[in-house]
Amino acid sequence: MTILVTGCAGFIGAHFVRQWLAAEGEPVVGLDRLSYAGNLASLFEAGRDARFHFERGDIGDAALVAALLRRHRPRAVVNFAAETHVDRSIHDAAPFLASNVEALFRLLEATRGHWAALAGADRDGFRFVHISTDEVFGSLGPGAAPFDESSRYAPSSPYSASKAAGDHLVRAWHRTFALPGIVAVLTNTYGPAQFPEKLIPLTILNAAAGRPLPLYGDGANVRDWLYVGDACAAIRAVLRRGRPGEFYCAGAHNERANRAVVEAICAILDRRAPRGGGRAHRDLIRCVADRPGHDRRYALATGKIERDLGWRPATEFASGLEATVAWYLANGDWSESARSGAYRAWMVPNYAERGPA
Ligand code: TYD
Repeated sequence: MTILVTGCAGFIGAHFVRQWLAAEGEPVVGLDRLSYAGNLASLFEAGRDARFHFERGDIGDAALVAALLRRHRPRAVVNFAAETHVDRSIHDAAPFLASNVEALFRLLEATRGHWAALAGADRDGFRFVHISTDEVFGSLGPGAAPFDESSRYAPSSPYSASKAAGDHLVRAWHRTFALPGIVAVLTNTYGPAQFPEKLIPLTILNAAAGRPLPLYGDGANVRDWLYVGDACAAIRAVLRRGRPGEFYCAGAHNERANRAVVEAICAILDRRAPRGGGRAHRDLIRCVADRPGHDRRYALATGKIERDLGWRPATEFASGLEATVAWYLANGDWSESARSGAYRAWMVPNYAERGPA
């Protein structure tokens, strides 16, 4: 048997392929269009594994996807392919609607065509697992219980609105066509080889280079940080035991204010890569103008996924962050390849350059 993993050269997708091959051993067909955030180098040893077959292309290319499904006959599709960065979606929402809604629609249709032609156990066992985000629920009030599968959709950004639309499509394709789709809803994920536009890798690389560390607004926005290895384990559990038509929230029980995250990175760097002259990395922190529509807090419950699928987050934030910082310090080549690729607008869509708050 084999599975099709779309977005396999992105952050979570590449970790998933590596973990999948190591833990499950089942062959993977990977599809990725290698846009600015897709980097085959992120697959490391998995990129050369005989059980991994890579195809470059877009999930919205219905003919390509149909051909892949016909040729490889995967028993599941796991869709990581998406535009993911909120700041970019404020700058230009068009690619978000194109990938996260329109291309997803075409992927669902191509998958439905394939699935409808299956019979018996192949048809019953087929799964379409879609990866989503807690951002679809909007901002969580202070003191409120974490979002869960019954929370109301109230996205704030063009990014989260496009992901919300995608989730609705997956649900609708299940209700209307019985396509066995399942949605895994994740919190903010972090770990090695994440493209350095997101808070944690951006802060690590900027701090290590002695550059300013932009904190949006007052730095008190809260995110629930999930280690990427735990996120991949959650998705494996969803694929193995999740019920078609269901959504599963995978929280991290690890809420942190942005300022605390940035300061924790600075403290690790003070130990591992001191600036010299008695200067602390935290002196590089600068409060900058806030992101428009900036959600104050995200957090996800884990009750359903723990109860039904037996998954819970395992990585302590301190050790996950330590491992992540150590990885970036040891893998300058990867960061260079990410930086020098098609991605020319290093930090531009962020609000870092907008001046003090
Ligand atoms: P980000 O990594 O962009 O993820 P998301 O917006 O999807 O949660 O940002 C995480 C938090 O960090 C968010 O509250 C915005 C904030 N942030 C900064 O303060 N400075 C930065 O340079 C970046 C990229 C993000």
